[in-house]
Amino acid sequence: MKKRDVLAGFQAHPVRSRRPLADPSRFYRNHVVMQDDPRTLDRKTLLLTFLYKFARHEYVGISAAWDRTERMTESTSMIAKIGLYHLCEEFSHMRLFLEIFQTFHLGQVEWVPLGKWMSRMYRLFPLFPEAMLAPPAFVSELMGLTVYQHIDSVLDDILADEPEARNRVRILLWEVMSDELAHVGQRRNFLGPLGLRAAQLMVESMYRAFFRDIPETTLLFNVEQMVRDGKAFDYSTITPKMLEKSWVPSYCKA
Ligand SMILES: [Fe+2]
Ligand SMILES: [Fe+2]
Repeated sequence: MKKRDVLAGFQAHPVRSRRPLADPSRFYRNHVVMQDDPRTLDRKTLLLTFLYKFARHEYVGISAAWDRTERMTESTSMIAKIGLYHLCEEFSHMRLFLEIFQTFHLGQVEWVPLGKWMSRMYRLFPLFPEAMLAPPAFVSELMGLTVYQHIDSVLDDILADEPEARNRVRILLWEVMSDELAHVGQRRNFLGPLGLRAAQLMVESMYRAFFRDIPETTLLFNVEQMVRDGKAFDYSTITPKMLEKSWVPSYCKA
């Protein structure tokens, strides 16, 4: 309910960029699959098509997980409830991303399912035993956090001429990030020493494989730095304001 209120608050007080994108048709032509030479896109459009591609993977992943999730009953365990809550937060992010697109007058954005092979892979994913799944699930959350941190750090530059839109995008992004921060912590709780070692080994190859598929990445961000940040992640890189907002379980609070 709270998430719904947050979204309704944004929708009730919309912020729109002063100018629409130079050529919105280029967003729509390239957001699902890059058709143009990405080097010919302006940085705003590039940032938005990147965000769409990244979020679309999340959308497909959480939709597959949702299909496999059992309905909550009185006998649902606390861990399963947390998992469900987590999934609902991911769906709320999809609406926040749409709000980001709306900020740039892009109202016709939908989450397009992935191709046959990719969606099959995502459907198989939840069938693996939890022990096998925990490390890559942790790394995906970590990757989300890394991506949003890097997006945050280019906003001042790319949206320098759109101060209101930039502030709104940052606030929307922070809504997502504070959840992802909690998800990283939550997933970390379920990694034993072996799982943690596996996750450490996976960071680099998962990050690289994922970004290789999104041609915008190297034009916007420093992939090497992203990999380094992923490997070196600890909570000291997170601002106190964000930590306070994030969903930190009471037993983790001093
Ligand atoms: Fe997410
Ligand atoms: Fe997450």
